Amino acid sequence: SDLQPLAGVRVLLTAGPTREPLDPVRYLGNRSSGRMGYALAAALTDLGARVVLVSGPSALAPPAVAELVKVETALEMHAAVTARTRDCDIFVATAAVADYRPAEPAGSKIKKAADALEIRLVRNPDILAEVAALPTPPFTLGFAAETDDVEQYARGKLKDKRLDMIAANRVGGDSGGFERDENALLVLWNGGQRVLPMMSKVELARELAMLLAEHYAERHAA
Ligand code: PMT
Repeated sequence: SDLQPLAGVRVLLTAGPTREPLDPVRYLGNRSSGRMGYALAAALTDLGARVVLVSGPSALAPPAVAELVKVETALEMHAAVTARTRDCDIFVATAAVADYRPAEPAGSKIKKAADALEIRLVRNPDILAEVAALPTPPFTLGFAAETDDVEQYARGKLKDKRLDMIAANRVGGDSGGFERDENALLVLWNGGQRVLPMMSKVELARELAMLLAEHYAERHAA
């Protein structure tokens, strides 16, 4: 219906940061609060979708969704997503996944000794790129968090990762993105774009969810 354009559609959505352990008490993390992803999970549920939310650690109360899967590391998020991609129609990657993890997390607390400490990092799998490269991929909406040249980098990610849509935001400094209640997005797809100006993440999520529903419907009408 017009009110529930995503009725019966299965959405898999990642949100929040990941934590990459250095030792049993410390981790490498990032500033994602989970706010944008949680708002999007709620907005998609309101449009009728059956949402599976795979979330990294967040202090926020999760929205009511069909299924909530809590993870901590990028590898755990990767495993949770991989196990569920066959049963989804749309994949949304809102999470700020660590690109690297400590190569060998220490088994016990790292002691203070030398003046400098070197930690070797290794690449994490790119969850979104893997999903988009499946033989029959779901409809994919990625995010891009950039400090500079937002449009250019986002176009690159749309093309290189072969996504259906990408929502780009400026991060760092006072420009929104991480942590704050408000954000602005530049949404790109092959052949078009839409600017969603600075507004609350709840309103922004509603706009983005409707745009996603339109494009998903077009794909399935074709
Ligand atoms: O949580 P909030 O505080 O509300 O902040 C929201 C947000 C700024 C985190 C969000 O709007 C956002 O931009 N999320 C994506 C952050 C990010 O990691 O972007 P990226 O440009 O590094 O990654 C590009 C895309 O690939 C993203 O869809 C990301 O989920 C995905 N990715 C990245 C690396 C990786 N190993 N696996 C992935 O799936």
